[in-house]
Amino acid sequence: MATERGVEEEDPTDFFVKVPGEPRRKCIDGQMWPSLVRAEHVRSAKRYQPDDDDLFVVTFPKCGTTWTQNICTQLMHSGYAPEHGKELYLVSPMIEAKGAQAVKDLPRPRVIKTHFNYPDIPKGPGVRYVFVARNPKDVCVSFFFHHVAIKGLYDWTDGKFDDFFEFFFAGKLEYGDYFEYMRGWMPHYEDPNVLVLKYEDMLTDLPSAVKRIAAFLGGPAEQAVATPDQLQKIVANCSFDEMSKEQKRFFALDNENHSFIRKGQKKDWLNHFSKEQSERVDQMWKEHMTGTPMENWWSEEMKYEEHHE
Ligand code: A3P
Repeated sequence: MATERGVEEEDPTDFFVKVPGEPRRKCIDGQMWPSLVRAEHVRSAKRYQPDDDDLFVVTFPKCGTTWTQNICTQLMHSGYAPEHGKELYLVSPMIEAKGAQAVKDLPRPRVIKTHFNYPDIPKGPGVRYVFVARNPKDVCVSFFFHHVAIKGLYDWTDGKFDDFFEFFFAGKLEYGDYFEYMRGWMPHYEDPNVLVLKYEDMLTDLPSAVKRIAAFLGGPAEQAVATPDQLQKIVANCSFDEMSKEQKRFFALDNENHSFIRKGQKKDWLNHFSKEQSERVDQMWKEHMTGTPMENWWSEEMKYEEHHE
């Protein structure tokens, strides 16, 4: 059981990090996790033995996980609708939060949500991964709103963006350093069992993204969008307007005031970053990403402009 830092019987492999002024999180085996996860579930999830038809939707937090889970579930479970009793978080649970057994118990084919880094993600023959990436500036802003909104997880409702910026880019928060995470996945960018999508491309052209996922999954998923009407239906079910209604279909969180599906745009960061913050991230980007396939992915999306919104 996790204890609080400073309590006598503290377990150094499993404790809450509660630093005054910082969002609450958990440290398990030297890595940072959301405060809701339990060490036994993280550990069993890392040892999960996948079946050959398992699909992982894997992202750094706030890159479009839920959106992509919904698309994949619609494609793989014909006629799926996220209704009461079949909410997306039940049908496609987060493995590190639920543990290996809860995932094994699901009917196949499974759509498994995770934010595991490449070294930790379960691997096995036939297993596939849809990896969604989003530019770090918008991830930071989306994650900030997530943190201030969910009191039960973070206890940080009065948090300020400028503080969040520092914690986030220092890699102190759950799932650690964004750049390291991305770099870990990049050598697998062209693996045949990995499909990499950009959140921003999904925004620009959702039908093409759905078709790419369907072609990657093949079989019944491809059949599910064989006609323009079928494709249009899935695209409509996964639109921002449709998904932002009744968000309890997607999340178990008890956060009435929070819109988890919040704004769904690119360059919202311009409404929150100073010019200096933007330049610092550009510099970090250069240091970490030069020479990787991602180097020029977001030249436009990360460009600073005065007078947004
Ligand atoms: P914003 O906070 O920038 O609006 P995740 O599911 O990984 O936590 O990602 C959440 C982000 O994806 C949020 O970004 C959310 O609004 C956005 N999102 C969720 N569903 C979406 C949809 N159907 N279309 C566009 N963006 C969506």
